[in-house]
Amino acid sequence: MNQDMQGKVIVITGATSGIGQVAAESLAGTGARIIQVARDRQRGDVAIQRLHSCAPYARHTIYYADLSRLSEMKRVASEIAAAEPRIDVLINNAGALFGSRQVTEDGLERTFALNHLSYFVVTHGLLDRLKASAPSRVVNTASDAHESAKLDFDDLQSENAYRGGFGKSLRYGGPGFKVYGRSKLCNILFTRELARRVQGTGVTANCLHPGFVATRFGDRSGGFMSFGLAVGKRFALSPQKGAETLIYLASSPEVAGVSGEYFYKCRPITPSREAQDDAAAQRLWVESAKIAGIAS
Ligand SMILES: NC(=O)c1ccc[n+]([C@@H]2O[C@H](COP(=O)([O-])OP(=O)(O)OC[C@H]3O[C@@H](n4cnc5c(N)ncnc54)[C@H](OP(=O)(O)O)[C@@H]3O)[C@@H](O)[C@H]2O)c1
Repeated sequence: MNQDMQGKVIVITGATSGIGQVAAESLAGTGARIIQVARDRQRGDVAIQRLHSCAPYARHTIYYADLSRLSEMKRVASEIAAAEPRIDVLINNAGALFGSRQVTEDGLERTFALNHLSYFVVTHGLLDRLKASAPSRVVNTASDAHESAKLDFDDLQSENAYRGGFGKSLRYGGPGFKVYGRSKLCNILFTRELARRVQGTGVTANCLHPGFVATRFGDRSGGFMSFGLAVGKRFALSPQKGAETLIYLASSPEVAGVSGEYFYKCRPITPSREAQDDAAAQRLWVESAKIAGIAS
């Protein structure tokens, strides 16, 4: 599993915890230099110290940004692009599940902003660097939670999804889980469209389902949802096991030429029908660019 990543530069979001933390430390152990994006200084300090203890001679770096805020996504990407001439791998992994609808200062539903738009905006900001460093890779953490999801382009901010309480969506874990599933569908559609757009540049884009993993995921979602997840996590994978596909996609020579795929257990698998809709993938790209205020 562990490839030699000596000298490679990896940017990763959501590595202060869970599968991102395991992946960052494991990749640092194989010689990569890690550039983390974190939101919390205390947790970030601990994470960077752990990285230095895995690989004391690499210049691991940390940047701080709340990736649910548009201005922060843009700022951190442009700071990294300005400081780093070379980026071999970008791992978009930060994500969360929110039990009730929250709106960011940009007027965006928070799950959409953090789980999808941050992947889109950070990748956009680092794409020139990735192209200049080709062969290079983008790896997006998605989820099998996309399987029951449908995208509603008239309600990308999920105003209707939370209306009317739990209703039918209880079957899927409630409205928060439904909205989470949509954001993970967005991750797969974004990966497909990115792969199409970067074809021939030497940049690949793939995404993955890590499995159900016992991380901090869902701990702060609230109420019934956090309780249910806490119970389920007793039977979940360890973060070490859950990080395997992430590490594989970031480093294995076996997938050097593979792009646009969705992986589970280090193998490409077929996502839901909605997640294979290339017209929806293109439309999501255009809509996301409009929302983010960047050229599509
Ligand atoms: N656990 C599972 O069963 C499972 C299954 C399928 C997919 N996933 C996906 O796996 C990814 C990683 O999740 P995990 O399970 O490792 O959960 P986790 O332990 O909760 O880690 C989530 C990471 O995202 C960061 N993050 C959250 N909100 C952020 C924000 N506003 N700005 C910047 N960073 C933020 C967290 O930072 P803090 O340390 O500051 O909180 C943490 O580093 C997510 O995309 C999730 O959707 C997880």
